[in-house]
Amino acid sequence: MPIVVVVGGQWGDEGKGRIVDLLARKARVVARYSAGNNAGHTVVNDRGEFRLHLVPAGIFYPEKTCVIGNGVAIDPEVLLDEIAQLQSRGIDTSRLVVSDRAQVIMPWHKLIDRLDEQLRGANAIGTTGKGVGPCFVDKVARRGIRVADLLRTEDLVERVKPALEFANRLITGVYGADPISFTECIERYKEFGQRLKPYVGDVQSIILEAHRRGEHVLLEGAQGSLLDLDHGTYPYVTSSVPSSSSGGAALGVGIGPTEISRVVGVFKSYCTRVGNGPFPTELFDETAEKLRDHGKEHGHGEYGTTTGRPRRIGWLDAVAARYSVRFNGLSAVALTRLDVLDDLPAIKICTAYELGGRIIDTLPASDSLLRQVRPVYEELPGWQQPTTHCRSFDDLPPQAKAFVRRVEELLQCPVDLISVGPEREQAIIVNPIF
Ligand code: GDP
Ligand code: IMO
Ligand code: MG
Repeated sequence: MPIVVVVGGQWGDEGKGRIVDLLARKARVVARYSAGNNAGHTVVNDRGEFRLHLVPAGIFYPEKTCVIGNGVAIDPEVLLDEIAQLQSRGIDTSRLVVSDRAQVIMPWHKLIDRLDEQLRGANAIGTTGKGVGPCFVDKVARRGIRVADLLRTEDLVERVKPALEFANRLITGVYGADPISFTECIERYKEFGQRLKPYVGDVQSIILEAHRRGEHVLLEGAQGSLLDLDHGTYPYVTSSVPSSSSGGAALGVGIGPTEISRVVGVFKSYCTRVGNGPFPTELFDETAEKLRDHGKEHGHGEYGTTTGRPRRIGWLDAVAARYSVRFNGLSAVALTRLDVLDDLPAIKICTAYELGGRIIDTLPASDSLLRQVRPVYEELPGWQQPTTHCRSFDDLPPQAKAFVRRVEELLQCPVDLISVGPEREQAIIVNPIF
């Protein structure tokens, strides 16, 4: 039975949480494989409206196992808080399993994240400030603290001592800030370890055993492929591998790439980005305001789930999207927020870039060249009628159908799912994913 990856195709916030909540119905295991609580996944279903940062979006189905893989950076305080909040709303969290190999976000990671952004000044990345980047730096520098270390006090002391000593040299010497106390840190994290203990387990076995039993497994991505450390708009990216390329998804839960059968890319019907960095199709006009504030009164406007920052808005960038389809090896596209375009008289799609008088159809690797490209647009007529009630492709107005078909052509990938609202049932399954 298939292991399916759900990956963000753009710069994040495409609606991955919403799509996973829908697809999880048929899965046995749902696993988060990358990033940390820089992610914010909104889910609206029969249990209410939830904003998840670490817990997989399958948690609302009582019979599913939800796992947090080794590829995730875990802030234990945030995770414990999220578990408590879910429990207080009647959600059973006893089926949550956290990988003992996952990295832990420590107090110095959060401090360094802030200090480093200040030091970069005008060139700041615009991070979420959750300590995720510095945590992955320590992981790669082989100085990281893992969940397994939290569970045994001797191991914790032995691992934290050199890591904090190094961090404090950086904090005081490079950034000129006050050092972090070793004793306080150990006491707090020892307690977090004890509270997390009941959730810690062997994630890899859970996934592979479910797979071998013939059950469906869903791997939930975070962020978006254009924020990918390798393939994204470097250096304005995140510090992990959100894409399914480079085995990001398989790596993040400890399985081989051959186990993955399908990769579904989630794309908005337009584009958004939070944080800094190039955004060729960005809009600064009334259309941007209109798209940003669509559904704002119900908490579904384009404002960051994690930081509340207004998201930057632009037309669908098919050049960037096609690039993302290719390096993720996407089998299908899930197109979200189609309803947000309902009122527009005309809709643009960027089909190519102009750079120095030449037309190109790929994303330049150079940050400065990417900032110079100018989008070449194709304009399609809008449908100017509601789509939120549509439940089959044929229910859509002809102009909306034409828009979806054009997206398929430009992205060179079938649109198998269309989302026309934030709620679980507001979707059109064009071709079943499982
Ligand atoms: P994620 O990070 O990819 O999970 O996405 P976010 O949850 O951060 O942002 C997506 C936002 O769009 C959330 O507020 C969702 O409730 C909302 N949403 C998802 N799909 C749709 C849709 O098809 N239509 C509308 N109007 N809102 C949607
Ligand atoms: P979800 O899973 C949108 C962006 C930040 C910043 C850059 C680096 O909800 O789609 P970081 O804190 O990761 O070091 O910040 O990445 N970013 C996201 N943008 N959605 C996310 O997650 C993001 N996670 C990180 O805004 O530009
Ligand atoms: Mg989000």
